[in-house]
Formats: sequence, structure tokens, C-alpha cells
Amino acid sequence: MLVSAKEMMTKAVAGHYAVGHFNINNLEWTKAILLTAEELKSPVILGVSEGAGKYMCGYKTIVGMVNGMLGELGITVPVALHLDHGSFEGAKACINAGFSSVMFDGSHYSIEENIEKTKVLVNTCDVLGLSLEAEVGSIGGEEDGVVGMGECADPDECKMIADLGVAMLAAGIGNIHGVYPENWPGLSFETLAAVKEKVGDMPLVLHGGTGIPDDMIKKAISLGVAKINVNTECQLSFQAATRQYIEEGKDLKGKGFDPRKLLAPGYEAIKDKVKEKMELFGSVGKA
Ligand code: 13P
Repeated sequence: MLVSAKEMMTKAVAGHYAVGHFNINNLEWTKAILLTAEELKSPVILGVSEGAGKYMCGYKTIVGMVNGMLGELGITVPVALHLDHGSFEGAKACINAGFSSVMFDGSHYSIEENIEKTKVLVNTCDVLGLSLEAEVGSIGGEEDGVVGMGECADPDECKMIADLGVAMLAAGIGNIHGVYPENWPGLSFETLAAVKEKVGDMPLVLHGGTGIPDDMIKKAISLGVAKINVNTECQLSFQAATRQYIEEGKDLKGKGFDPRKLLAPGYEAIKDKVKEKMELFGSVGKA
């Protein structure tokens, strides 16, 4: 059964580790992440962007697939199915479809409008026992070939949103989605510490987990980060393994064209990547 991310977050803050949020794109991705979490006895959050939602034939299809897998694969660790960077409408659609957690990304609105919309969703999620992630200070990344450097959130605004009763808060600390540019100055621990000081035990979320050096990840966890989002790194490891399979001509031998064989190396590569991250985040054995 899917669970809200609230309890996992509280335990992660108390235990000084972080739970991995891994974005899913299809059946192979989902199965790889769920089985790795089960093998490592780690809680896990499956992230679904609105784009990936459309790609996978809508939120209800995803809820059906994930719930089916939890039963068929005998998954016993806590699993949250979470909308990633949702719009207000997207969040409502996921709540209706059976997601156990949603993110409302109101960071592009004025703080007043972000508060107003987040408040409505806090109430809905509270009634239904779901977890809500909110965002302050937008996360940069590549958009039309231009790489933004990632905004730093205003700690006072973080407190205003945290006080609404969200389950977890994404605060921009110079992190960006995708591969970091060579001249990236690194995470702003000054911002993170200032946010933490204002919001106390509120679990903080670090987006753009791909390519952040291990020592920065560990320091971020020590400063209150309890959820770390990883997407691009799984995509890159899937791509590299699939490329190697084809470059070695394996798809041309025997039944190597069978999608179950063609996608197997990429699937294994995702499993390895998720394992590496769960070990780094300290969530192994915490389920
Ligand atoms: P990356 O693709 O940089 O790992 O970021 C993932 C993310 O933050 C999803 O919300």
C-alpha cells in the first residue's frame, strides 16, 4: 500500500539521513527502483513529473501500475507516489487519482499567491492523510539551452510556507536540475543553515541531486535535508548501458532484439545507481 511521505520524513530528520526521491518514466524504471528499495530495506519516494505523467498515459495509469507492482513484487518497505513540481491543477488531479504525496511548486508565483495556493492544498492533504511538498526559491536548470544558476530561497519566506503545515519544503540553495555546469559555485550552505535556523525540524528537500559531490550531499543532510531528488543520473546510466548493448552488437545476436533483453542492461544500471544513492543518503536498513 502506498503511504504518505510524512512519517518517512520525520524519521529521516530524527535519524540524520535522507530518503531518495527517484523520478520514474516507465515500467522498467519503476520496477528497478521498487526492487532496489526492497532489497536494501529502504523507504523510497517515486517522483512523477507532469510530463512523465502524460507520457505514462495519465496519473490513474501510474497509480494502477505502482499499486499492482507493490502487490505482485511483494514490496514491504514504505513507498510514496509523489507528484514532482506540480501545478495547482496537477496536484488536485494526482490527489484524485490516488497519489499518496504531491508537490505544489508555487515558487514562480509571488510569495502571497504561493502561500494562498499552498494553504488550500495543505488542508486537502491533511484531510486525506497525504503529504505535501512546497517550494520557495526556484530551482534552476537548463531551459532552451540556457543554464540558470539556481536561486537561493529567502529564509523568512521559507518560514512562512513551513508554518502552513506542509510535510516537507524545497528551498533553493543554488541547486539546479540536470548536469551541473563546470563553473557551478556549489550549494549555498549559508542559505541552507539560515533556512534551517528559521524552520527548525521541517524536513528540507534537495532537488537536482544529479552530480552533487558526495561530501556536499552529506553536509546538506547534516543541515536538515531529508529528501533528495534524483532524475538525470538514472537517465544517464540507463542511456550508457543501452548504448553499450547496441554498440557491442548484442541486439543483432539471437533474440537480442527482444525488448526484455534490450532494456535489461539499462534496468540493471538504474538499480545500481539507486543503490549507490541510497547508500550515500543513509536510508539503507531504515524501512
Ligand atoms: P536531477 O535531474 O538534476 O537529478 O534533478 C531531479 C529533481 O530535482 C526532480 O525534481
